[in-house]
Amino acid sequence: MRTILIGPPGAGKGTQAQYIVSTHGIPHISSGDMLREAVRNGTELGKKADAAMKRGDLVPDDVVIGMVIERIQRPDCARGFLLDGFPRTRPQAEALDVALAAAGVALDAVVLFEVPDSLIVERVTGRRSDPDTGAIYHLKFNPPPPDAVARLVHRSDDFEAAVTARLDKYHRETAPIVPFYEAKGLLKRVDGVGAPDEVTARLLAVLGPARAAG
Ligand code: AP5
Repeated sequence: MRTILIGPPGAGKGTQAQYIVSTHGIPHISSGDMLREAVRNGTELGKKADAAMKRGDLVPDDVVIGMVIERIQRPDCARGFLLDGFPRTRPQAEALDVALAAAGVALDAVVLFEVPDSLIVERVTGRRSDPDTGAIYHLKFNPPPPDAVARLVHRSDDFEAAVTARLDKYHRETAPIVPFYEAKGLLKRVDGVGAPDEVTARLLAVLGPARAAG
C-alpha cells in the first residue's frame, strides 16, 4: 500500500498513522519526524530546517524533497509506505510523481483528514509525545499514563503563535495540492472530528482491508 496522509496540523495524521503501519506492516515516513531528528542531531539539513520549523513556516522544498525521495527508495519501502506530512506543496507533489514513475509504482490513495480550524489550536497545544515509544498523547483527549509523564516532550512548534502560522501555511501552500490528487482520482476525504477510534473506523472504510503492495 502506498498512501499519503494530508491534513492541517493536529488533524490526527500521526495518531492514525500508528494504527495503519501496525496493521499493514509498512514504514511510517513522517517528514516532520525526519526533520526533528535532523535538528536533534545537528546535521546540515537540521540546521537549515530548525528556524523555519520553530516559526511554523515550511522548510524549503529543495531541503525536504531530496530527504523524502531518498527515504522511499530504501528497500523497506518496496512493499509500500505511509507518507505523513509530505507532500505539502505542489512542487513536492510533482517531485513525488516523478520519483514514483521512475520506480514504476503508483500511489493507492491520498487521505485528507478534515478538521475545522476552531478545533486545531486546542488539539495541538495539548499534545505531548513520548520520545521512548513514539506514542502521541493529549492532556485532555488522550491522557498519558502516569509513569510516562516525566519524559514527555512538548514540541517547540506546539505553542499557539506557531500553530496559527502553521494553519495559515496549510491553507495557503498545502490545501492547493488537494485538487491535484482529486483530479487523479486518488483523494479520499475522512472526517477527522470525533474520538480517535471513530476516525480510525472511517479511515478503514475508505482504505479497505490490509493487503500487500505489489
Ligand atoms: P509535522 O510534524 O508534519 O506537523 P503537522 O503536519 O503540523 O502535523 P502535526 O504533527 O502537528 O499533527 P498530526 O496531524 O500528526 O496530529 P496528531 O496525530 O499528532 O511538521 C512540523 C513542521 O515540520 C512543519 O511546520 C514544517 O516546518 C516542517 N515540515 C514537515 N514536513 C514538511 C514538508 N513536507 N515540507 C516543508 N516543511 C515540512 O494529533 C494532534 C493532537 O491531537 C495529539 O495530542 C493527539 O493525541 C490529538 N488527537 C488526535 N486525534 C484526535 C481526535 N480524533 N480527537 C481528539 N484529539 C485527537
